[in-house]
Amino acid sequence: MKAGYALEMTGIRKVYPMADQEVVALDGIDMNVAEDEIVALIGPSGSGKTTLCTIAGGILSPTAGRVLVGGEDITDYSPKKLTEFRRTRVGFVFQAVNLVPFLTARENLLVVDELGPTGRSRSDARKRADQLLKELGLEGRANNLPSQLSGGQKQRVAIGRALINSPELVMFDEPTSALDSKLGDQVVHLIRDEMKQRGTSAIIVTHDERITHYADRTVHITDGQITDHDHQFAPAAAAL
Ligand SMILES: Nc1ncnc2c1ncn2[C@@H]1O[C@H](COP(=O)(O)OP(=O)(O)O)[C@@H](O)[C@H]1O
Ligand SMILES: [Mg+2]
Repeated sequence: MKAGYALEMTGIRKVYPMADQEVVALDGIDMNVAEDEIVALIGPSGSGKTTLCTIAGGILSPTAGRVLVGGEDITDYSPKKLTEFRRTRVGFVFQAVNLVPFLTARENLLVVDELGPTGRSRSDARKRADQLLKELGLEGRANNLPSQLSGGQKQRVAIGRALINSPELVMFDEPTSALDSKLGDQVVHLIRDEMKQRGTSAIIVTHDERITHYADRTVHITDGQITDHDHQFAPAAAAL
């Protein structure tokens, strides 16, 4: 049965307990992402974007509220179940590209597979990795170490790694902030193509209003609250 939504977050609150005070990172978030939808999430530094992504992907649990991915309620999953969920159902691409430095591009994709059983043979996994590298324009780079790749190429390897297990939802946390604007445009274009081709949903966190042109919808977050739900082509923020 189709769930209709890749992600449903209801009444999400996240409080980080600190030594002398609590930090309210998310304060009553209601946000859905439809199947096949790309949502740009925009907000100032410290507004809760990364926290929202980590809760959507089951890295952190919310203090209150519920999280459903593909219609499945993951809110009360045990750490063990969450680990399995993260490995098979969602993907992450972080701002700081955290590739394993001593593994080649291909091995960086395959390492996800080796963390647990996927029911896929080694040779099938390798085929899938090489197919993804090809789609990402990294055909000749499978055997290169991260140190032998440019910033844009490393970010593309990270995208490949996020897609290797065919997740239904991928969180991109400021995927272009370390790239110059031309490369940033290329990477976001590629993200859009890859998502649309697979019918995968995505949240793209960004400071860059231009990136909203690649999204189906833009959501603004301020101080842990969603301030509006714009459609595409949100007016450029005067502050930028
Ligand atoms: N592990 C943590 N412990 C305590 N406070 C945190 C932690 N992670 C984030 N915060 C705080 O929560 C708020 C939201 O942070 P974050 O989600 O990283 O925002 P953004 O990604 O929009 O910059 C900020 O005030 C930040 O300082
Ligand atoms: Mg962040």
